[in-house]
Amino acid sequence: MEVERVQAIVSSSLTKENIPEEFIRPEDEQPAITTFHGPIPDIPVIDFSHPDQADIVRSMANASRDWGIFQVVNHGIPLDLIQRLQMVGKQFFDLPQEEKEVYANTPGAPSLEGYGSKLARDVNRKKNWVDHLFHRIWPPNCINYQFWPKNPPSYREVNEDYAQEMRKLVDTLLKWLSMGLGFEENVLKQGAGGEEIEYLMKINYYPPCPRPDLTLGVPSHTDISLMTVLVPNEVPGLQVFKDGHWIEAEYIPGALIIHIGDQIEILSNGKYKAVQHRTTVDKEKTRMSWPVFVEPPAEYVVGPLPQFVDPQDPPKYKSKKYKDYRYCKLNKLPQ
Ligand code: SIN
Ligand code: FE2
Repeated sequence: MEVERVQAIVSSSLTKENIPEEFIRPEDEQPAITTFHGPIPDIPVIDFSHPDQADIVRSMANASRDWGIFQVVNHGIPLDLIQRLQMVGKQFFDLPQEEKEVYANTPGAPSLEGYGSKLARDVNRKKNWVDHLFHRIWPPNCINYQFWPKNPPSYREVNEDYAQEMRKLVDTLLKWLSMGLGFEENVLKQGAGGEEIEYLMKINYYPPCPRPDLTLGVPSHTDISLMTVLVPNEVPGLQVFKDGHWIEAEYIPGALIIHIGDQIEILSNGKYKAVQHRTTVDKEKTRMSWPVFVEPPAEYVVGPLPQFVDPQDPPKYKSKKYKDYRYCKLNKLPQ
């Protein structure tokens, strides 16, 4: 089956003013109609260089409970590594279409990995204004190097270095999130698969769009993962649903955006909340983002942890294998 990439649509048939009908969202999703511009607080920003660790833990717990998302500055990941990650990703998407297709995923295949245009069929059969590349970056026995671009040649080294930095950062985040609920620092990591926790890199490539008012990059969702650590480029587009409004995330150079995903919400029995979010696109500029999905192993059973459950607060979620949760969510089946 021939799959058309959004990037290819943009560089070929498109007129200056129109987009194909399958990209036009119903009015209740259109960003021009639904984006809120009134006074509203910004997504919390947490500075990891703050001298008082108890203060960081508290702010992170509040943000994860009230927003399900926060930005981190002074996170310790070298900025030049982040820039190199962005550079090699951009170089891949700048390759001729046929070179990218070598890494194409197989629609309907069990693995999401590879280059592609859509993850799951949307309820209203609309298409998303985005192409992507997915590949695992950790642990080593989960890596399929056939989905890692060979061009540019430094792609592999940069992604391997970034994986090591992600592991350190995620260990810290899980530790502080556990402490933020008043528990021992290992509770969330152990409850999510310990050293077998998997790291899945995604690159989102949102080409310029003549009608950004009508379409979406990625429609509203919560992430299936435990959490997602995202690097954006300088083109804004991430929006968060907060107190009934779609509000735009501020771009902070060098910051990482942390999304609480469904699995942390489940493990914490709802004490931390997965964030509802979506992305918009730009008329002139290409937006890109590099989320890393932090996931339990496929066979691992995730449910509310005993520490977070008591007679006053019985389990709010079923326990099930992560792969079954993911399958149901991607196929829009009840959990
Ligand atoms: C996503 O939620 O899948 C994409 C987020 C982004 O590009 O900022
Ligand atoms: Fe997401």
